[in-house]
Order: sequence, then structure tokens, then C-alpha cells
Amino acid sequence: TGPVSCPAPGGTRGGMRIGIIGAGRIGSTLAGHFDRIGHEVVISNARGPQSLTGLVAELGGSVRAGTVEEAADFGEVVVVSIPYGRYRELPADRLRDKVVIDTCNYYPERDGHDADLDADVTTSSEKIKAHTGSNLVKAFNTLPWQQLRDHAYRGDGVPRVAVPLSGSDDGAKAVVAGLTRDIGFDPVIAGNLGQGGRRHQPGTSVYATELPAAEMDALLHAA
Ligand SMILES: NC(=O)c1ccc[n+]([C@@H]2O[C@H](COP(=O)([O-])OP(=O)(O)OC[C@H]3O[C@@H](n4cnc5c(N)ncnc54)[C@H](OP(=O)(O)O)[C@@H]3O)[C@@H](O)[C@H]2O)c1
Repeated sequence: TGPVSCPAPGGTRGGMRIGIIGAGRIGSTLAGHFDRIGHEVVISNARGPQSLTGLVAELGGSVRAGTVEEAADFGEVVVVSIPYGRYRELPADRLRDKVVIDTCNYYPERDGHDADLDADVTTSSEKIKAHTGSNLVKAFNTLPWQQLRDHAYRGDGVPRVAVPLSGSDDGAKAVVAGLTRDIGFDPVIAGNLGQGGRRHQPGTSVYATELPAAEMDALLHAA
């Protein structure tokens, strides 16, 4: 294989059911992207679907608002994009064994201190995976939301921006890599949730960068 190793070259274009928990900058941007390539999307937040009327109108397309439980039940793939400190509120029983995309980052000043993460005995994604029992893939956590919004759907010949992803389940990684590719980014596998996840969390050299895949791959696997 080349420098960029990614499972399953195939795409996922259209027809998948995607639930989104967290309708902020990242969750709503991904909702629009997935809708645009023909997936069915149900988006949710903490305050409930009635608070999402404006967002849904703004997104256009066929994105629907639901409760967190509805989004979790609806999705074959469920995006979790909430402040890390609130992950224990996720409906674990509804996410068990599902493919979950975790965009969350740990910021103690926002999330409160997590002793395990401060001591680096585990990662934020491993903790969310343990809570939910899901096939969790960490992805879309490094690009600032404006870049996630603006660099999707690059045409042929336009260099794509890389999105690192990590996970412990090859099938789930392949699904998320396909979705990533279909909205116009280049997925680059960082590794499993522990070692791999540590390679693209806040404070790493790839965090908040906009890189092509080969450079991303080199940085992720340096040292
Ligand atoms: N912003 C970025 O550029 C960026 C980039 C990469 C990764 N991230 C990470 O991705 C995550 C989301 O970031 P963001 O900037 O999109 O956040 P945000 O704009 O602050 O939005 C957070 C969303 O999460 C919802 N939420 C909070 N607790 C919830 C719960 N228990 N159940 C359901 N929904 C809940 C909020 O709902 P309400 O509005 O109803 O409270 C809101 O819709 C964070 O962990 C962040 O660190 C952010």
C-alpha cells in the first residue's frame, strides 16, 4: 500500500441513515454534508427538536430534527458531536454496537477535569466507547469547523484536505473512511483508539492543521 493506508476504497454515497447528536458547529456542518450526498439525516441537541427549527430550515435539504433518542435509534451511523464533558448523558443502550463517529475533544476548561485524561491513562474516545459499547471511530476532530465547512466536495484535481481517523474496528473504520471520502476529504488512518487517538487529539502536531493526506500520514506516524 502507499503511504496513506485506508480500508475499503469504496464509497458510501447515498442511502445511509445517519443520526447526529449535537447540533452545534461540527454536528450541523456534517449534517449538511451528509444530506448533500444523499444520506438521510436526523439531527438532535440537548434542548430538543423544537429548538432546531431554524437550523433545519437553514440547512435546507431533507435533514430532520429529532430527540437524542430518535437520532440514536435512526442512525446506522451516529455522529456524537457534543462537549466531551457531557458524554455520560449519551443514551448508551441505544448506541451499543452501532458505528459511532466521535468528533469530541477534551478541553478541561470547558469540560471540567477528567483525572484519567489528565493522567493520560486513556483517551476521550476510549471513554466514550466504553460508555456506549459502540464501534466508535474518532474522526472530524482536528479540522476547525469553518475548514470542515469550506473544504468539502473539492472537485477533481483540487487537492483534498486530510481527515485523520482512528478506531479499533476495521469495518467501522471502513464505513467512516467512505463517508469522509464521499464528502470530499481524504481519510488517513491514525491507528486504534488508544495509540491512534492520541496521535490526533488536541496538542498534537496535526491538530487544527489543513494538510494533504501524504503529509498528514507522515506527521501522524512520525516518532
Ligand atoms: N468547533 C470546532 O471547530 C470543533 C472542531 C473539531 C472538533 N470539535 C469538537 O466537537 C464537539 C462539538 O463541537 P462544536 O463546536 O460543534 O460544539 P457546539 O457548537 O458548542 O455545539 C455543541 C452541541 O452539543 C449539544 N449538546 C450538548 N450536550 C448534549 C447532550 N447531552 N445531548 C445532546 N446534545 C448535546 C448542544 O446542544 P444545545 O445547543 O441544545 O445545548 C449543541 O448542539 C466538541 O467536543 C468539540 O471540542 C469542535
